[in-house]
Amino acid sequence: MDFHYSEEHMAVRDAARDFAQTELLPGVIERDEQELFPYEQVKKMAALGFMGMMTSEKYGGSGMDTLSYVIALEEIAKIDASAAVIMSVNNSLVCWGLEKYGTEEQKEKYLTPLAKGELLGAFCLSEPEAGSDATSQHTTAVDYGDYYLLNGTKNWITNGGMADIYLVMAQTDPEKRHKGINTFIVEKGQEGFVVGKKERKMGIRSSDTHSLMFSDVKVPKDRRIGENGFGFKFAMSTLDGGRIGIAAQALGIASGAWELAMKYAQERKSFGKVIGEHQGIQFKLSEMATEIECARLLCYKSAWLKDQGSDYTKAAAMAKLFASEVALNVSNEAVQIHGGYGYVKEYHVERLMRDSKITQIYEGTSEIQKIVIYRELLRRI
Ligand code: CAA
Repeated sequence: MDFHYSEEHMAVRDAARDFAQTELLPGVIERDEQELFPYEQVKKMAALGFMGMMTSEKYGGSGMDTLSYVIALEEIAKIDASAAVIMSVNNSLVCWGLEKYGTEEQKEKYLTPLAKGELLGAFCLSEPEAGSDATSQHTTAVDYGDYYLLNGTKNWITNGGMADIYLVMAQTDPEKRHKGINTFIVEKGQEGFVVGKKERKMGIRSSDTHSLMFSDVKVPKDRRIGENGFGFKFAMSTLDGGRIGIAAQALGIASGAWELAMKYAQERKSFGKVIGEHQGIQFKLSEMATEIECARLLCYKSAWLKDQGSDYTKAAAMAKLFASEVALNVSNEAVQIHGGYGYVKEYHVERLMRDSKITQIYEGTSEIQKIVIYRELLRRI
């Protein structure tokens, strides 16, 4: 076991840190307030190779490992958790799934521009009545020979309004339950495809979340991913990696909040000394740092297992479950350490605290992670 960063990992960390400080930090408060998508910043992330980090170079990606991806995401999320989720969805839920399960034609046509960041992707599983219970898809895809007709509504879709390419899960054969679900590649602008209302959110407000409506959208058969009925397994398998990305986002929120609190504790004076000299604050900062380190180890382990080709379903769910709890706790404590300043926008910690909550909800709630973990534990008995 080697806990050292490789030269490559350190280079990725430094590049992501530098990018976050110089390109994401300026304007992050305004983007959050005004719910502005970080359009220019995403283009720059693409230029750095961050939109297709794990995709092979053959398909326009950076060909890096999952650990590099986690390291970069932590640095991005420290400063701007909205930018982190935009990056995470494109990388884990869209590019990875296409490379693993797509046809050569699908990879050339869709994966390559997505991995280069020339196009943006979205992953569309959740529905008004199918969030956690993902097998209960109400969106239908009726088979008409060389094409499917897609009808239904998707909810809470990250990158929903800004994306160009959408991976959409739909039920083809309801009697078969999950074995009747397929995943389709849908292009923005297709007839019958309408981007619905933008969600007004508590946190990650500059990420773009929409409902989507499909009304008789004609999808050619060659845009189905995998064999007939593979769509649910595609979603589950892709979400395993997605959960590593959200765990890394949560880790970044926590470590970003901790860094701000640590700095503040060395500057702010009360009762005749900097607050960092009070034991109460020292205890808090030490506990927060320990929790963050545990979350980081779980994130790294899940990424490492994935890179080894080992089963990482349980490790990814554990990393997401734990890191999201740490994000909430640490950002809350960081606000507390800042006192009144923590409650106002200029000090950044209130935003990180608002941003933290979503990490317990999307790509499977904490309760879903516990179900996944339990089933994996049971399977091993
Ligand atoms: N990899 C591959 N296949 C898997 C799998 C995995 N990790 N997990 C399950 N499967 C397979 C099972 O083997 C099973 O196949 P067989 O019947 O052939 O054995 C099939 O999938 C069904 O599995 P389950 O019986 O376990 O299914 P379930 O109905 O009990 O549900 C669940 C399991 C874990 C609760 C699942 O429904 C789930 O993960 N729910 C949460 C969904 C979620 O995360 N939604 C958020 C999506 S994010 C989004 O859409 C918005 C966005 O912008 C990001």
